[in-house]
Amino acid sequence: LNCGVPKTKKEIVEKLLVGLKRLEYRGYDSAGFAMDDNEKWCEDDDDDDDDEEEGGDKKRHDAKKVIVCREVGKIANLEALARKELFGEDDDDENEVKASKSKSSNGRKKSSSSIKPLDFCASIAHTRWATHGPPNKINTHPHTSDSRENEFVVVHNGIITNHAPLRAMLERRGMKFETDTDTEVIPKLCKFLSDKFEESGEKDVTFRQLAMEVTRQLQGAYALVFKSTKYPGELVAAKRGSPLLMGISDDSGEVSCVIDGNLSDGAEEDVLLKKASGNKKRKSMTGGAAAAAAADADTTTTTRITTTTTTTTNNPKVEFYFASDASAMVEHTKRVLVLEDDDVCHCHDGTYKIYKVEKQKHPHPGYTSGHDSPEYGLYKPVVLSKEVERTIETLEMEVESIMKGEFDHFMQKEIFEQPEAISSTMRGRLVLDVLGAAERVMLGGMSQFAATIRRSRRIILCGCGTSYNSAIAIRQLFEELTELPVTLELASDVLDRRCPFFRDDTCIFISQSGETADTLKALEYAKAKGALCVGIVNTVGSAISRATDCGVHINAGAEIGVASTKAYTCQIVAMVLVALSLSEDSRSKHTRRDDIMQGLLKLPGCVKECLKMDAILLELAQELKEEHSLLIFGRGFNYATALEGALKVKEVALVHSEGILAGEMKHGPLALVDKHMPIIVVCTNDGSYEKQQSVVQQLKARDGRLILIVSDDDTEMEKTAPDAVILRVPKVEDCLQAVVNIVPLQLLSYHLTVLRGHNCDQPRNLAKSVTVE
Ligand code: G6P
Repeated sequence: LNCGVPKTKKEIVEKLLVGLKRLEYRGYDSAGFAMDDNEKWCEDDDDDDDDEEEGGDKKRHDAKKVIVCREVGKIANLEALARKELFGEDDDDENEVKASKSKSSNGRKKSSSSIKPLDFCASIAHTRWATHGPPNKINTHPHTSDSRENEFVVVHNGIITNHAPLRAMLERRGMKFETDTDTEVIPKLCKFLSDKFEESGEKDVTFRQLAMEVTRQLQGAYALVFKSTKYPGELVAAKRGSPLLMGISDDSGEVSCVIDGNLSDGAEEDVLLKKASGNKKRKSMTGGAAAAAAADADTTTTTRITTTTTTTTNNPKVEFYFASDASAMVEHTKRVLVLEDDDVCHCHDGTYKIYKVEKQKHPHPGYTSGHDSPEYGLYKPVVLSKEVERTIETLEMEVESIMKGEFDHFMQKEIFEQPEAISSTMRGRLVLDVLGAAERVMLGGMSQFAATIRRSRRIILCGCGTSYNSAIAIRQLFEELTELPVTLELASDVLDRRCPFFRDDTCIFISQSGETADTLKALEYAKAKGALCVGIVNTVGSAISRATDCGVHINAGAEIGVASTKAYTCQIVAMVLVALSLSEDSRSKHTRRDDIMQGLLKLPGCVKECLKMDAILLELAQELKEEHSLLIFGRGFNYATALEGALKVKEVALVHSEGILAGEMKHGPLALVDKHMPIIVVCTNDGSYEKQQSVVQQLKARDGRLILIVSDDDTEMEKTAPDAVILRVPKVEDCLQAVVNIVPLQLLSYHLTVLRGHNCDQPRNLAKSVTVE
């Protein structure tokens, strides 16, 4: 929403599209946007190029119309459609606004000089990962109360679980549905309730009140943004369950210009921007913006920025942004606040207010949550709320971190970023002595809970997908260093089984995004049981990092590729630090702990060494690219490597792959082995080495096509299997070896994907953040 910040339609569309591109990793089935079409045109019959001033003899008008543009597939498709339909450009035109002619939405050709920017424009956009209904144009967001009028327009992330009864109720009251989506009930409810309020004489219902009445009817999860022709220049955002951030461009008086340089037409100048202080009360997550913000809190720093002032006299000049994550807005502002469940934010006239909806005992008699009820006649808004404040934090993220840079794909970039990412995970946490040796581990946020964790009945590691695999990778070290029973739980299974969790359990929730619905639900469940909840999270400010009692931010930087790579290795490293900090009082483990700490210091360098194998793995991928199946055997510290390697191969290269605990080989998987089956065996030198050697022998005896991941100083395996492809990796401390060993498998799956012509960053049917159960 731009308030008093003049923007042409073209600029607004470009801004929406850039935001969508940054979020494309969250959903890429289809995309769309809606914006005001009230660009002021000079009514100019002879179409000359004179730039008429307002008030001249040529008539101006505000169309007060909403443009909705939707397209199936990637954002690029939407972009092409928008260019063609809104600006009359051909597909192959460059980004530039056409200098001479452009077309209005009603098809009239206008001279570009007659285009006046919009002072206020409420625009919403969405990229979809289909849940209800196939990814076609009709099901693409934004959804509307009526596609001809577009009176109420909504974008939604999440799932409305009671959409069927709501839809039935609205259909019985004469509303016509146009899509298969759960979301469509929301704009339809807006229209239904808005009309009912009007009929009941409730003329002054605000957009916020209306949105609250609508969300009160919804069950499930949502992050929503509403716009309406009835409330021009306003946006309302609401959240429950799904993530929602708000960005604010203006610095509340500290800076009087818009930090939005290149789009405006004023003079460039330098200004001093006072950085807002961050969240002083962030509890116990260590690292990330939390720590940085806390450090900033007592001082006001100044940063020189280049900006462009605008010439409008409207005040205040501000732009508000809403998005599921910060990457969509980081180019425009670093000032963000995180909305909490049941928050409703209302922006208009350059201001925003956040209200918390209060729980209510009695349902409103005029309508029900979807069940047809007797009409009670009058409708009036009943939802109670109170205004709340949310702390504005300063984003640490740099825009480069969400760009591909010199790499072809995000997955490739993120694989190669691992040495640096692992260093970031350890930075400030692995304390060195004067000689540069690691001396101890310092996890600020967790330290106050360490004693409680040590007294726990057990530790439960919980996550989904790759994050769960990192839990498998670390379990053995946790058991060894804490001497506590450590169990593993897939988050979705926790709820299915109603696992017995107790108040003296410590549950560690691992999540890159911090938003995975299953993990979040498992966390809520564990909290309800009274367990101590710890987060191992990448995304600062995410729901999991906020809901846990304490935790560690892994500080891996933004991960955009759907297949998790650097988050996996950094999660393992972060949990090694946790295990070390929990065992720091143990004298008997002193030597082991010391070896691990020195091993950690070498880890980034060893991962860097591994990355040099890229060309070898490209060659191997060429050999394997036509295969239909790939088995990966691992055990002990590297069972997780087998599972995670296989997950990578199947999720991005779309090749069937199984990670198998080598100890189970004889109990089934051996039946699959013949001379055609490619098999990777992880057999680096650790306590399982001899057993793995025997596995290799047995596979060789059945003519398996072997690829062996071995330690760089290994001389035995090539004697055991002379025909095998040997991949040598640096030897590190056994409990850290999984961090190194996964790298060749990540590279292999990356190259397999590219060679097979698939999209590694947005694999078929998968989403990066699964915010629905
Ligand atoms: C999705 C992603 C996976 C990820 C999993 C858990 O399935 O595609 O890459 O491992 O969610 O996500 P989290 O953000 O909780 O680690």
